[in-house]
Amino acid sequence: MTGAAGFIGSHLAEALQAGGHDVVGLDCFTDFYDRALKEENARDLEVLRLDLADDPLDFSGFDGVFHLAGQGGALSFGSVFPLYLRLNVLASQRVFEAAARDGVRVVFASSSSVYGDAEGYPTAEETVPAPASPYGVSKLACEHVAAAYARSFGLDVLLLRYFSVYGPRQRPDMAFARIARALATGRPFELYGDGGQSRSWTYVSDVVEASIAAMESGRGTYNVGGNDEVSLLEAISLFEDLAQRQLEVRIRAEADGDHRRTRAETSRIRSDLGWEPRTPLADGLQAQWDWTAASVS
Ligand SMILES: NC(=O)c1ccc[n+]([C@@H]2O[C@H](COP(=O)([O-])OP(=O)(O)OC[C@H]3O[C@@H](n4cnc5c(N)ncnc54)[C@H](O)[C@@H]3O)[C@@H](O)[C@H]2O)c1
Repeated sequence: MTGAAGFIGSHLAEALQAGGHDVVGLDCFTDFYDRALKEENARDLEVLRLDLADDPLDFSGFDGVFHLAGQGGALSFGSVFPLYLRLNVLASQRVFEAAARDGVRVVFASSSSVYGDAEGYPTAEETVPAPASPYGVSKLACEHVAAAYARSFGLDVLLLRYFSVYGPRQRPDMAFARIARALATGRPFELYGDGGQSRSWTYVSDVVEASIAAMESGRGTYNVGGNDEVSLLEAISLFEDLAQRQLEVRIRAEADGDHRRTRAETSRIRSDLGWEPRTPLADGLQAQWDWTAASVS
C-alpha cells in the first residue's frame, strides 16, 4: 500500500488487516500536512519509509499493490506544479514500471478531478476528461502512463476515480475537515467562492470497500462516488447542526482550478463489482464531526 500513512490509505490498510491480509505500507511522510497526523494514522502498520519517486521499488512476493501515494489538492497552479509532476506522475510511473516487471496487479487512486467541469452529470467513465487543475492533469497523466504500461508490458492495472472522500482523519486541507475544525475550535472558516460548488461526497469506508472489490475482481476504470451531492453551503449548515454552533464564514475569491460540480455515475462499478455507496451523508458527517470534536478536545 503506497500512501499508507495518509487519510484513505490508512483506512484501507486497517480494513485489509482486519480482513486477515498482511499489509506493508510505503510512505515518505511528505510535509504537505502535519506529520504527527500521519504518524498517528500509521501507528499499527509496518511502514517502509521510502520515496516512490527516488528509491528502488521491489514488489516481488506481493499479491497486489494499492497505489494511493500522491499529492492531492486542486490548488496546484504556480510554483507547486513540479511537486505534482514528481509525486504524482514520476512516482506513479516508477510504481507501474516495478509492478509490470514484478507481475503484480495495481489499483491506482485516480480522481474525479480528471473530468473538470464535465460535459454532463452524472458523469460516466467514458466522458472525455477535461481537467481544470494541474492536479487533475497529473492524475490523468498517471492514468495514461498506466495504460501505456498495460499495452506495452502487460501491466495489470485498475483505475479508480475517487470522488471527494470524507470521514475521520480526512486531509486537513479538505473542505469538510476545515469546516469541522473551525466549528470545533470556534475559529473562522475561509470559503473560496460562493459556496455553491457541489460534490458527490464519498464516505471513506465506502471507498475502502470499492478499492478492495476492485483489487479482487475489477477491470478497467471505475468511478467511486457517493450518492449524496450537496453544496459547500449545504454541508456547512449540516455541520452547524451537528456542532450546534454557527460557523463564522469569511468569503475569499474562488480558487483557480476549482470546478463547479461533480456527480458520479456509478452503474459500471455496481454491475461489475456489486459495489454501491452505503453510508448516508448524515451518518458520515456525524462520524467526521465526532472524530474532529474528540481530536481537538
Ligand atoms: N481525498 C480525496 O478526496 C481524494 C479524491 C480523489 C483522489 N484521491 C487520491 O487518493 C490518494 C490518497 O488521498 P489522501 O486524501 O489519502 O491523501 P494523503 O495526502 O492523506 O495521503 C497520501 C500519502 O502519500 C504519501 N506520499 C506522497 N508522495 C509520496 C512519495 N513520492 N513516496 C511515498 N509516499 C508518498 C504522503 O506522505 C501521504 O501519506 C491520493 O493519490 C489522492 O490524489 C483522493
